[in-house]
Amino acid sequence: MSAQRKDDHVRLAMEQQRAHSGHNEFDEVAFVHHALAGLDRSDVSLATTFAGITWPVPLYINAMTGGSAKTGAINRDLATAARETGVAIASGSMNTYFKDPSCADTFRVLRQENPDGFVMANVNATASVDNARRAIDLLRADALQIHINTVQETPMPEGDRSFASWVPQIEAIAAAVHVPVIVKEVGNGLSRQTVLTLQNLGVRVADLSGRGGTDFARIENGRRALEDYAFLHGWGQSTAACLLDAQDVGIPVLASGGVRDPLDVARALALGARAVGVSGCFLRTLLDGGVPALVAQISTWLDQLAALQTMLGAHTPADLTRCDLLIHGTLRSFCADRGIDTRRLAQRSGSVGALHEMTGSTR
Ligand code: FNR
Repeated sequence: MSAQRKDDHVRLAMEQQRAHSGHNEFDEVAFVHHALAGLDRSDVSLATTFAGITWPVPLYINAMTGGSAKTGAINRDLATAARETGVAIASGSMNTYFKDPSCADTFRVLRQENPDGFVMANVNATASVDNARRAIDLLRADALQIHINTVQETPMPEGDRSFASWVPQIEAIAAAVHVPVIVKEVGNGLSRQTVLTLQNLGVRVADLSGRGGTDFARIENGRRALEDYAFLHGWGQSTAACLLDAQDVGIPVLASGGVRDPLDVARALALGARAVGVSGCFLRTLLDGGVPALVAQISTWLDQLAALQTMLGAHTPADLTRCDLLIHGTLRSFCADRGIDTRRLAQRSGSVGALHEMTGSTR
C-alpha cells in the first residue's frame, strides 16, 4: 500500500506539473531596478550559512520519494544530480521504511550515490524518537526534516485523523537527535504563528513550503474514488506570503513550494530565505530528460542566480535581503491584512532616503 502510494504521488505530481498554469504569487514580487547597483561577477559568492550549516549554494532538492522500486531508482538519479552540482538533498518520508525495512536500499541510495554531500532524512510528526534516529542513521544524515501535512492527510483515504500529538512529538524528536531539525510543510505553507511555535519547541530551521507548486490536497483527492475533496485544492498561503509573514522570526527559514526559475530563487532569498528547495519542477526535468537534463538545469540556475546577484549588487545570497522589493496584487492585500510593512521593503536599501536627501525631497 505504502509503496503504491509513493508511485501514485510521483504520477499525480507530474500530471499536475504538466497542467499547471505557470502563474503563482512569486509573480507579485518585483525588484526595484537600480541601474548602478551592479558588481563584478568575480566578487559574488553563492554560499549560505544558517543554524551552524554552511552550503556552497543556496539551493536544494527537497523531499520527495523512496519506498518502492521505481522511486528508489528516482532517488538514485536525484542523488547523482545532487553530487554533480553540489546541492543538498532530502529523502522522501521514511515512514515506509519503518513499516517495511526491506525497502531500506531505496532510501540508502541517497547516501551511497552522494557520500560527501549534505543529505537530509525525512520523517512525519508521528515518528517515534527511535525511528527518527533510525532514519538519520540509515542515511548518515546531516539534518532531519519533519514534515507536517494536515491538509494532505485529510483527503488521503488512509491518512491520519489525529494531529494533537504532533506538537509534543516534534519537541521530543528535536530534543533527542544529534543533527539540526528542520520542520517543513509540504506545499500549504507555515504561518508566522506556526514558525514561532516551532521555535519554542526547539526546532532549528523552518522550511515554509507554501502554495504555488505541488498541491498535495489535489494529489490525495485524485486518489479518492469520488474525488470529493476538491474544495481543498489550493489551500494555504503561497511561499512568497509565508516569507513575508515570517519576517524577523527568531529561527532561519528556508523557502520551497512553487519555485520555477532562478528569479524565484532570488525573490525567495530577498524575502529572507537562507536557501530555496525545489521538488516538482526538478522531478519533471529528471523524468523527462534524465540525470544530464537535471544536472544542466541546476547548473544553469546556479549560474543565473550568480548573474542576478551581480546585477542586483548582492555579494552573497544574504545581501539580497537589502534589495528594495515591490509587492503587488493579492500579496499586497495579504501584507495589509497581516500588518506587514510593504513600504519598508520597497525602501530598505537606503537609496530612496539618500536620493531624497540629495534632491531635498521630503516625501
Ligand atoms: C513531495 N513532498 C514531500 N515532502 C515531504 O516532506 N515528504 C515527502 O515524502 C514528500 N513527498 C513528495 C513527493 C513528490 C512526488 C513531490 C513532488 C513532493 C513535498 C515537497 O517536499 C515540497 O514541500 C512540495 O512539493 C512543494 O514544493 P514544489 O514541488 O512546489 O517545488
